[in-house]
Amino acid sequence: MKITYYGHASLGIEVGAKHIIVDPFITGNPLANAIDINILKADYILLTHAHYDHVLDVEEIAKNTDAVIVSNPEITTYYEKKGFKSHFMNHGGSWKFDFGTLRYVSAAHSSSFPDGTYGGNPGGFLIETQSKNIYIAGDTALTYDMKLIPLRTKLDLAILPIGNNFTMDVQDAIVASDFVECNKIMGYHYDSNPYIEINHEESIVKFLDKGKRIASFGGR
Ligand code: NI
Ligand code: MN
Repeated sequence: MKITYYGHASLGIEVGAKHIIVDPFITGNPLANAIDINILKADYILLTHAHYDHVLDVEEIAKNTDAVIVSNPEITTYYEKKGFKSHFMNHGGSWKFDFGTLRYVSAAHSSSFPDGTYGGNPGGFLIETQSKNIYIAGDTALTYDMKLIPLRTKLDLAILPIGNNFTMDVQDAIVASDFVECNKIMGYHYDSNPYIEINHEESIVKFLDKGKRIASFGGR
């Protein structure tokens, strides 16, 4: 499994020959302007929720790649009406895809499209593959529901929001990593707008003080 950070909450994940893109918001992020979305490969586009900063580049990438959009039914219906392919899931459910097993899990946040259309309940994703298991929290507060994840899945990486204001901050992400029982963390959803700018050095120290390892801290 190879994970590429495209900034904000956008991720590229390669599992074998399959390409997954999560929450594409690249053209709207000045810190990610070196990335050309027209050359991105995608078999699947996973969407945690419908907010602008998670769906901005979905249609362009789906048009280019014919990718299947995976999310909750409110979000997939929105894209199906526009002619895109989709697979809908709901909270607690899992499905075996050709890259591994995907589970849609709870997140405490909100979800509406930029045009006001209701975007269903927001979520996160658990991806289980033959090589690695990862948790993508999505935009969320720290919740006790995170404790349910390690009951079934031994994680190799937890991807957690750390920018504060809209989501958890670093301190809550440290607790979240305890809840999901994974000390290898990739922080995301920070720095890409003035409300979520964080001090990198201080944040790294906070994680290290608790024996946590930051897998990626690039700052896009
Ligand atoms: Ni959001
Ligand atoms: Mn967001």
